[in-house]
Amino acid sequence: MITTAGSLLFAAGAIATTQPAATGLGPTSFAPPGIFPTSVYKSYFNNPTATSAQPQPVISDPVLHSVYPFALTNPKNIPQNDTKDPHPLPPVASSSQLVQAAITQIESLFTNPVFGSNTCASCQAILEVLKFVSLAAPQETPNLVVLLCEKLDLSSNCEDEFGPLTLGSTLTQVLANADVGGYDGQAICGNFLSLCPMPTTSPLNLTGWFAKPKPNPLPSPKKPSGKLLKVLHLSDMHIDPRFATGAEANCSSGLCCRENAFNKESPQEPIFPAPRYGAFLCDTPYSLMLAAVQAIPVLTGTEKTGFDFGIYTGDLVSHDAENELSRDYVMYAETVLYDLLKRILGTGPFYVALGNHDTHNEAQDAPHSIGGALAEQFSWNYDHVTSLWQHEGWIDEATVQLARAHYAGYMVRRTDGLRVITLNTDFCNSNLFNYINLTTSDTSGMLRFLTDELQDAEDAGDRVWILGHVLSGWDGTNPLANPTNLSVISVDRFSPHVIAAIFFGHTHEDQFQIFYANNGTVMSAETAQTVAWITPSLTPLTNLNSGFRMYEVDSATFDIVNAFTWKADVNSFSDLDNQTEVGPAYVFEYNTRETYGGSIEGFGPNDPLNATWWHLVTEAMNTTTSLVTTFNTFQGKSSARTTACTGDCIQARICYMRSGSASLAFANCIPGFGSVQ
Ligand SMILES: *[C@@H]1O[C@H](CO)[C@@H](O)[C@H](O)[C@H]1NC(C)=O
Ligand SMILES: *[C@@H]1O[C@H](CO)[C@@H](O)[C@H](O)[C@H]1NC(C)=O
Ligand SMILES: *[C@@H]1O[C@H](CO)[C@@H](O)[C@H](O)[C@H]1NC(C)=O
Ligand SMILES: *[C@@H]1O[C@H](CO)[C@@H](O)[C@H](O)[C@H]1NC(C)=O
Ligand SMILES: *[C@@H]1O[C@H](CO)[C@@H](O)[C@H](O)[C@H]1NC(C)=O
Ligand SMILES: *[C@@H]1O[C@H](CO)[C@@H](O)[C@H](O)[C@H]1NC(C)=O
Ligand SMILES: *[C@@H]1O[C@H](CO)[C@@H](O)[C@H](O)[C@H]1NC(C)=O
Ligand SMILES: *[C@@H]1O[C@H](CO)[C@@H](O)[C@H](O)[C@H]1NC(C)=O
Ligand SMILES: *[C@@H]1O[C@H](CO)[C@@H](O)[C@H](O)[C@H]1NC(C)=O
Repeated sequence: MITTAGSLLFAAGAIATTQPAATGLGPTSFAPPGIFPTSVYKSYFNNPTATSAQPQPVISDPVLHSVYPFALTNPKNIPQNDTKDPHPLPPVASSSQLVQAAITQIESLFTNPVFGSNTCASCQAILEVLKFVSLAAPQETPNLVVLLCEKLDLSSNCEDEFGPLTLGSTLTQVLANADVGGYDGQAICGNFLSLCPMPTTSPLNLTGWFAKPKPNPLPSPKKPSGKLLKVLHLSDMHIDPRFATGAEANCSSGLCCRENAFNKESPQEPIFPAPRYGAFLCDTPYSLMLAAVQAIPVLTGTEKTGFDFGIYTGDLVSHDAENELSRDYVMYAETVLYDLLKRILGTGPFYVALGNHDTHNEAQDAPHSIGGALAEQFSWNYDHVTSLWQHEGWIDEATVQLARAHYAGYMVRRTDGLRVITLNTDFCNSNLFNYINLTTSDTSGMLRFLTDELQDAEDAGDRVWILGHVLSGWDGTNPLANPTNLSVISVDRFSPHVIAAIFFGHTHEDQFQIFYANNGTVMSAETAQTVAWITPSLTPLTNLNSGFRMYEVDSATFDIVNAFTWKADVNSFSDLDNQTEVGPAYVFEYNTRETYGGSIEGFGPNDPLNATWWHLVTEAMNTTTSLVTTFNTFQGKSSARTTACTGDCIQARICYMRSGSASLAFANCIPGFGSVQ
């Protein structure tokens, strides 16, 4: 510090011009001396008269009696942050204050004219508010969602759907984890609320997805043995142990044939009392279930021999409202139905895929990557079903462990060489957890598992059947586009040499979908690679007959050589009430080869009903539309309520048959004709 003496102010060396500018004023110009008037301040941090830097006077605060340090004004080292000031923040909000603020902000977002008619922008903005409540006060989100649901009139019973005891807690996890301001949020607003356009399918990053390129040429096909295996395919049994005989079977909403179901036109007295064996708007009562259990071995001619094996493509549990479901109710259905499957089948194993109803909450399964305890929240279900499958003798301990690690999906290599891969397709459908990081297309790793298993099968020269519940294509309304876009690429890579057939359920209707090479750029008999059989349900829901199927399968190629489908006429079930002489008849519906094969050139009676054959069937349908009429009848299992397929429906259906993925259906097909309803 340099101290100066003297108190001369503005004196020595000042230069003034002598000529006054005008009378009474000083000189016209003035320049002070070049030396800093050091006497102004008592002391300096530097030499105030140096010409190389500005003077740094020492300033003391007369009120605080403190000296401001040189560091405050040192031009060579300006402080970059202020650690001394208190920088006050608002107090941490309590949970209830958070909710209040969220409500006010959501109100503002609703009324802010800046959004105009951009419902998508306001929807995503509202999701942002919910996201931060979900992170800071997760216990508050479900009730907030219920409020919002009521305000937007999204449901007649918001509490029962989105309250803390139903989907509210799942939704809170998803909001906390998803990119709600980006792709995930747009998809949520698009798919569930129709407030956004659906975001475009994400481009896939296929770098490293396949361990090896597709073999070229493909290994030569296996030689058929000519020996046929009998394989039972059941799906969507949806047992309703709460079915109330005599309750309203023609209810106005929800699941009918329940004590709480009613028709608005006659709330007190059922218009159509539930027949003992079931009805079109109801799930499978025990009486119908056991009628099927008794009929299947007789009709399929397997009473003495049993089946070689069976496949079950998901959905055991009834279509109860969310608030009537529980973990115990799901486990009850699993216990009852796997036991009945075992009794139907006799000796062979059943291979089983989980359906969207075979979990709780309905359709929910969390990806491992969510981490921590949340990653384990559905383990109770994987543990339960795999233990039951092991108990029935269908899978061994190693497979139990494999399935527990893959959301109940597993691979079994049979002693005859067929590999069966089962998938949990909740990672391709409306499962809310799929909306976390949806752009990655395989957050759960389910498709990674499938692709790795297919590679192992290719390396071993084995053929594979894939079982899933929710179909990947058809009219595209069931699966999500991103995962199915990825799944068709894996199917293409391993077809036709590895994948012999694919099996789905879910729609309750009798359908199929063909997968082509190069994502269907050319759809022809030459490019058709594999086919997915979508098998009809045992439940009559909705407006369908009850049905099941058996395949004859070559024991060396595992190609399907024929398929036989049976049905029971639900329309006649009332006639069976009030008597015990006779139960509902299951009758033969159709033989697939006989029904369509007459039009197909070049396929002998022992050639498989493979993708080539099915493609030729679609070509025949295009020229002989009566084949589409036949297909339509069977699609509804010959139900009295099946509506006709005419006009645009004909081309639409053929197009769905050729759509292995949702993206293909959306790109190519007329929408709106997927179902016979
Ligand atoms: C702020 O300054 C303090 C004191 O110099 C220092 O310890 C700290 O690392 C600085 N912080 C940042 C973010 O620069
Ligand atoms: C599906 O994935 C492919 C491969 O990455 C990509 O080219 C295509 O754009 C995706 N589909 C859509 C509809 O974006
Ligand atoms: C694509 O995936 C590979 C392998 O996982 C990764 O190394 C690469 O960074 C990814 N590329 C992009 C553009 O994400
Ligand atoms: C079912 O109820 C509706 C009215 O809700 C009525 O129009 C219809 O005829 C009824 N159908 C049967 C089979 O009872
Ligand atoms: C979603 O993506 C983010 C960013 O890559 C990642 O940190 C997070 O773990 C992912 N969440 C899940 C559930 O996979
Ligand atoms: C289907 O079977 C026929 C007749 O055996 C055969 O020529 C054709 O290559 C097969 N198609 C596929 C996709 O495997
Ligand atoms: C069956 O019996 C119940 C009463 O036990 C009666 O209400 C119903 O009308 C009867 N149904 C038929 C088809 O006779
Ligand atoms: C059906 O046939 C017509 C006329 O031959 C043709 O234009 C059309 O592309 C065909 N459609 C399909 C789905 O094959
Ligand atoms: C397949 O084709 C459809 C229709 O052109 C397209 O939307 C989709 O992205 C394609 N998928 C892949 C995996 O390339």
